Amino acid sequence: MSKKILVTGGTGYIGSHTVVELIQEGFEVVIIDDLSNSQVEVVDRIADITGVKPGFEQFNLCDEGLLSDFFQRHNDIVGVIHFAAFKAVGESVTKPLKYYRNNLVSLMNVLESLDHLSLKNVVFSSSCTVYGQPDNLPVTENAPLKPAESPYGNTKKVCEEILLDACSADIDLNVISLRYFNPVGAHESALIGELPKGKPNNLMPFITQTGAGILPELSVFGDDYDTEDGTAIRDYVHVVDLAKAHIAAVKHLLNISSDNNYQHYNIGTGNGYSVLDLIKSFERHTGQKLPYKIVGRRAGDIEKIYAGTALANERLNWSAKLELDEMVSSAWKWQKTLKN
Ligand code: UFG
Repeated sequence: MSKKILVTGGTGYIGSHTVVELIQEGFEVVIIDDLSNSQVEVVDRIADITGVKPGFEQFNLCDEGLLSDFFQRHNDIVGVIHFAAFKAVGESVTKPLKYYRNNLVSLMNVLESLDHLSLKNVVFSSSCTVYGQPDNLPVTENAPLKPAESPYGNTKKVCEEILLDACSADIDLNVISLRYFNPVGAHESALIGELPKGKPNNLMPFITQTGAGILPELSVFGDDYDTEDGTAIRDYVHVVDLAKAHIAAVKHLLNISSDNNYQHYNIGTGNGYSVLDLIKSFERHTGQKLPYKIVGRRAGDIEKIYAGTALANERLNWSAKLELDEMVSSAWKWQKTLKN
């Protein structure tokens, strides 16, 4: 059987790490990416790490014609991992239609194009954002979903609903949505990692850029939460562990027999760390003080979330292996390559 996997958004942060793991597991990979938030050089970096250059085509998935033509040429694809999406929470508030168009239309085009294939397997990038502030922690997959805090978050929720409905209507379609917690860190080679455009929004790149002197100081958004040190808690997961969850999901889909044809899983470590925990870990690892100040809460932030991971552990046979210090040290190693 063919082992060809399409990775949309495969030159992006999580996508590139997943392509590396797929190749190392013996899969053949072809990437579609429009390079709207990534660099084509990533394809060569993947080849440097793995010794194999993945296929690469540059276009936007909203172009139905190009996508249909692609699937006709690659009708031996056995699975699609769909990362390609816009992901800046703040921008989605000011440009909601840009987010709805891109994230929803691209998913629907991918689903419709699957008719060219004999196997219709999809792994979808979802987010713990669908839970909002959960009533119980750790949050499990059957927790009620809360109204989204941003148009970006809503695209994830609506995409999950589209996938569920599409699976109900088509028994041959098999989908796994992975609800990521907070991906951080970089590949140990420091050849690929997160490349935020402009000022980062997320905590880890903000920390490493501050540590590197690119940014003067980190703002800690709120120290009056109901947590041990007053700062907000998240479940940070190493991007390499997260990438491996996609391999587990693909293998599960390829072996699926009587399972439900739509499944979703939390992908986190199960541990919650505060903003100050990350800062302390960075200071421990680098031996340098990180300049930071406490400011007010950021609009839309939740207080506390971490994953219940039993379902992914049991059904996907996946669990996160890498600790917070490895997340911080790999992110720092990557940051230093960017500065030089
Ligand atoms: N934080 C700071 N200072 C910063 C940046 C972040 O204190 O400069 C804090 C935030 O307030 C939060 C924590 O660090 O408590 C983590 O923030 P991130 O922005 O790194 O991550 P979020 O949990 O806010 O965002 C994640 C995903 C998004 C998703 C969102 C939903 O990155 O894709 O969860 O809540 F939409």
